[in-house]
Amino acid sequence: MKNLRPDSILSTDTPETFRHAVLVTSEWLKSGGLAAIPTETVYGLAANALDAQAVSGIFRAKGRPSHNPLIVHVDGISMARRLTSHWTPLAQKLADAFWPGPLTLVVDKAPDIPEIVTAGGSTVALRWPGHAFMQAVIRECAFPLAAPSANRSNRLSPTTALHVREAFGEEVPIVVDGGAASVGIESTVVDCTGEQPAILRPGMLHAAEIEAACGIPVHTSTAPAGRSPGQLPIHYAPRAELELTRVDSPTDWKHELEKRNWPVRESRILLYTDIPRDLPSDHVVVIPEDPEAYARALYAELHECDRKGLKHILVEIPPEGPEWVGILDRLHRAAAARG
Ligand code: TXA
Ligand code: MG
Repeated sequence: MKNLRPDSILSTDTPETFRHAVLVTSEWLKSGGLAAIPTETVYGLAANALDAQAVSGIFRAKGRPSHNPLIVHVDGISMARRLTSHWTPLAQKLADAFWPGPLTLVVDKAPDIPEIVTAGGSTVALRWPGHAFMQAVIRECAFPLAAPSANRSNRLSPTTALHVREAFGEEVPIVVDGGAASVGIESTVVDCTGEQPAILRPGMLHAAEIEAACGIPVHTSTAPAGRSPGQLPIHYAPRAELELTRVDSPTDWKHELEKRNWPVRESRILLYTDIPRDLPSDHVVVIPEDPEAYARALYAELHECDRKGLKHILVEIPPEGPEWVGILDRLHRAAAARG
């Protein structure tokens, strides 16, 4: 393909480069290729959702087990409705309230969605993403895009184009730079097949907001394993060992490392309260105590720990409250990966 340089990252920061990247990317997707595309949650590894062979490339590149279904991205509610055999009133309400945005709706699938996309299941996960580039590519392609997060299976999701390039090298020929993801963790996945919404994966759009929008109490994640296979504990993990803890005073952090036999030079502490003065500042990262800012920063900080080859990450347990549930979920999963 003419404009394709395997090691390139396509930029989108002027109207001209944006348009060029949309054309190059959609041409490549139309030919059955894979492209890493920015969304507002995390970067996605996209292929034509209606082309089983193209989608099989996603599973191959990620090393993703075939029983884990993919999210299908659309450019509006009418495309979403064409992909489902039963668009429920609940799905309509939530789509009206939160799309485009970090919300994925699980509904009964239409027959023309290949089995590989839904892992043989009868439901499909749909999302209209809020990122202008992803939207423009879907419109240009005029077909939906299957896109999991653009990371190797069980590793951290990427929030920048560089994270994607580091994970896949030249194996993914097109990586588009749409800036750092503005949400920073994966979308909230809500089962809308019944009358009551059920959260299969928490995210920044939280239960109280969903309840307020549809006026029905949310059924929270008692999802049986296998129902939403991405919810198996080993997921979203940095290479480094990660533990969650809380301390009474900032001077206790040093002791927390010693207790675990974690040398300071191999460790990093992520906290949002007072900075310990007795530890080297380059081993302490302060993340803002604001859920949105925290989510936006979290994966980049964890990627940075991996890039530096650190072995241990100690994370201050985030505050309580519905807006922290998605963040806490990812931190617990990262901790469970080794524990
Ligand atoms: O924010 C996001 O959702 C990102 C961006 C790229 O859109 N995508 C993402 O995809 O996180 P992935 O594949 O990493 O996670 C998809 C999640 C998994 O937990 C999967 O099991 C679940 O959605 N899922 C997909 N289809 C499903 C279905 N039909 N029923 C239940 N869960 C489903
Ligand atoms: Mg993922």
